[in-house]
Amino acid sequence: MAAITGLDRPEDSTPKPASNAPDFPSDFLWGCATAAHQVEGGNINNDWWAFEHNPSTAARESSGDGIDQFHRYAEDFALLKALRHNTHRLSLEWSRIEPAPGEFSQSAIAHYRRVLTELADAGLVGFVTLHHFTLPAWFAERGSWLAPDAIDTFERYCRLVTTELGDLMPYVCTINEPQMIALHGYLEGYHPPGVTNPILWRRVGRVLLEAHEAAVRAVHECAPGAKAGLAVQLPLLVPARSDDTTRAFCAAMRAEIVDLYLDGLSGADRGDWLGVQYYRKQWVDTASPTLFAPPPAGTQVSQMGWAVFPEGLRLMLHRAAETGLPLYVTENGIATDDDAERIDYIESHLYAVAQARREGIDVRGYIHWSAFDNFEWSEGYGPKFGIIAVDRENGFARTPKPSAYAFARVAASGRITDLRHTHSY
Ligand code: BGC
Repeated sequence: MAAITGLDRPEDSTPKPASNAPDFPSDFLWGCATAAHQVEGGNINNDWWAFEHNPSTAARESSGDGIDQFHRYAEDFALLKALRHNTHRLSLEWSRIEPAPGEFSQSAIAHYRRVLTELADAGLVGFVTLHHFTLPAWFAERGSWLAPDAIDTFERYCRLVTTELGDLMPYVCTINEPQMIALHGYLEGYHPPGVTNPILWRRVGRVLLEAHEAAVRAVHECAPGAKAGLAVQLPLLVPARSDDTTRAFCAAMRAEIVDLYLDGLSGADRGDWLGVQYYRKQWVDTASPTLFAPPPAGTQVSQMGWAVFPEGLRLMLHRAAETGLPLYVTENGIATDDDAERIDYIESHLYAVAQARREGIDVRGYIHWSAFDNFEWSEGYGPKFGIIAVDRENGFARTPKPSAYAFARVAASGRITDLRHTHSY
């Protein structure tokens, strides 16, 4: 494990403001998120691996060995604990657990039992995602989410894992970002299955909502102690121009990307909490081939070209709160090589969360994306989202960045100003 320095410095003499009340309560959850395919390595039996290796792929490179977390999870959890996290979000790889239809791997289940036990022993409250973008290759070959038995098949997997591992899953996230699965996979075509079809885009979103409800039923029946929730990505969508056509188009996109999922969480099986994932503001533009205009000149953008706009997080927390569900920020982060920019991003977005809380929004945790630099889907290993660097050329060595220590300080005290203080806690 990497040496932890900078955490236990003696108290400094920096004068503190008179009112030093924490911005967040002591039971607030602090942590980071990852997903199996982005960190484990060697996930060769899923649709993403096939997509990465297709000669006409939109993906830049193979996920390959990931950051080898399949073997290094214990060291990673110990590092996160030392960095004062009290929660961690990760995902299970369905293709390992069910390598062929109806054939469940006892070895994979035992592996994840060891992983989740280690997580609990490290004192990290587990947010366990059942489906984070990757599907078993056999499920994809049968038509992915559009196959007639897709929901039943997903529900069977959910029942199996929650029966086997539910005692180790305080929080179950059923599906990660159904909107992005639909948008990237079926309209924009740069995630599997690489389709660009507006009819299928709309259909898949609705199937995924039903799949979420089936998964919630499975969690409640098979793991009664677990709380189930959906993680939705909620970009702040605004019209690129103020003419009626652009505004109407923006409203239609918002209906499909935001409203469908939030207003759709209304039935008995909607779940117990909602995960809000927020990265950016986007300008919807019917005249653009990608449906989104590039951010206006002068806008701060990340390595992904995404516009930084912290106020959007506060606004989308308000929108998500209309569901009446308790909220957790389950992803928020920036791809940048400039770690000082990451600290600024964390700071401005935490102020947005704190303000939403003061305005009465029930936000119970902040889970940053991501713990480690990792495989950023079609963009490969270029974008750096992590608070911990990983040297993939040299034994996968982990090195916390200054942002990891800054985050540790605020996680320990609940005070945003401690991001920039170096006193002990
Ligand atoms: C996904 C992550 C991804 C991140 C940054 C989210 O859409 O859940 O898997 O790496 O955003 O793109």
